[in-house]
Amino acid sequence: MEIDVLLRAVAQLESTIATGPIVPQVTPQEIRSYLASRYDFAKPLTLDDICADVERMLQTWQVQVTHPRYLGLFNPSVTAASVIGDTLTAMYNPQLATWRTSPAANEMERHVLVWLTGKFGLPADTIANFTSGGAEANFSAVVVALTRAFPDIGDHGLRHLTASPTIYMTGEAHLSFNKIAHMTGLGRRAIRPVATDRHMKMDLSDLARQVAADRQGGLAPFMVVGTAGTTAAGVIDPLPELARFCQSEGLWFHVDAAWGGAAVLSPCLRHYLGGIEAADSITCDAHKWFSVPMGAGMFFCRHPDAVSAAFRGEAFYMPRKTAGPVVDPYTTSPQWSRRFIGLKLFLALAHYGEAGYSQMIEHQTRMGDVLRAALTRAGWRVVNSTPLPLVCFTRDGLDTTKFLAALYERQIAWMSEVRLGDDASVLRACITSFRTTESDIEWVVREMSRLTL
Ligand SMILES: Cc1ncc(COP(=O)(O)O)c(C=O)c1O
Repeated sequence: MEIDVLLRAVAQLESTIATGPIVPQVTPQEIRSYLASRYDFAKPLTLDDICADVERMLQTWQVQVTHPRYLGLFNPSVTAASVIGDTLTAMYNPQLATWRTSPAANEMERHVLVWLTGKFGLPADTIANFTSGGAEANFSAVVVALTRAFPDIGDHGLRHLTASPTIYMTGEAHLSFNKIAHMTGLGRRAIRPVATDRHMKMDLSDLARQVAADRQGGLAPFMVVGTAGTTAAGVIDPLPELARFCQSEGLWFHVDAAWGGAAVLSPCLRHYLGGIEAADSITCDAHKWFSVPMGAGMFFCRHPDAVSAAFRGEAFYMPRKTAGPVVDPYTTSPQWSRRFIGLKLFLALAHYGEAGYSQMIEHQTRMGDVLRAALTRAGWRVVNSTPLPLVCFTRDGLDTTKFLAALYERQIAWMSEVRLGDDASVLRACITSFRTTESDIEWVVREMSRLTL
């Protein structure tokens, strides 16, 4: 492959995006009419023409998540090495369902996952796999935890249980768990919302009280989810205390570190994830703070037997299991056919190294501090507390929806609004790009102060 050509294309796109608009102004009808007028698929078009047209559409009709002033929802700028990784995956199209079909690809994924297992402090026999994203990793966690707590459900289903299983997390945990409760047949009411303290961390006494009350009431608590970097406010739940509680109560301890998990690569931040080493399972997304293209999540679990029990499967038409210390991912994960998801992370880690990664993560963390300080100086009130680069802020009388509309219209930045607990909505800005600079931030805050609504 001509890597230089690809690198030049990536670099050119970076500068095109950085100097262009962030937020599109377009209606569904406009795009549909355009597509209908050009693409009836009746006669073939040249690839040059199609690609030029597709790139134009993507550059005009998309929120540019790789823009340095996209301060958004955990969608990162992507490293050149990871783009090359995804391109190679598409070109070779390896099938990772079984080890035998793609030994090299399976072992490269394993190599990355074993390395990260060590960084999280999990035991050496931890089993891990790449997922489409955090939602699939969280889904895996619930299915495996359920299977371990109630071994008969694999054959007989939830309807054979005498008590309804329940899961505990705060209202700040990711809403994928509601869907997961629905999809697994647990039902959305199996999610028991635990109160938070004034920093929006899980309130341990409320957790203990609810678990005890639910047991008393005939329910079957089996899992607690702690979040390391909540979606709305970047808060890290008290992981060491949660680990201890789960151990003493015989509950599965899952840590959803979909975004925050990358902090294990930073010597300055990793202590904030203390306690994660005691997790039964961890979700960590490469397509968030590891800055690789979507979709790339990871699921880690210290109970290989429970994972095999949850996702067991055998089909005569699949290649026979290879002798030796290998697994066939189709028997240890929800997916069957499996893309080489891990190559983009393998390539990026190999190219930038651990030091390169920690610099990237610490740069973004510093930019979060710069943003907090600039906002405070400009009279905004920061309302969340986290060491991670996610800032929630407001000022008296702010209409967040109107404010964001003005921000988008002037192409100042992309950020979002969130409601923390029952409070009024506030603005949320997260440093998701390793290319965001101090001057980007100072400019955004200055322009925001000039907006009169
Ligand atoms: C804490 C957390 N967990 C899980 C998810 C779901 O991840 P994905 O969108 O990769 O499925 C998100 C998404 O933002 C998240 O913030």
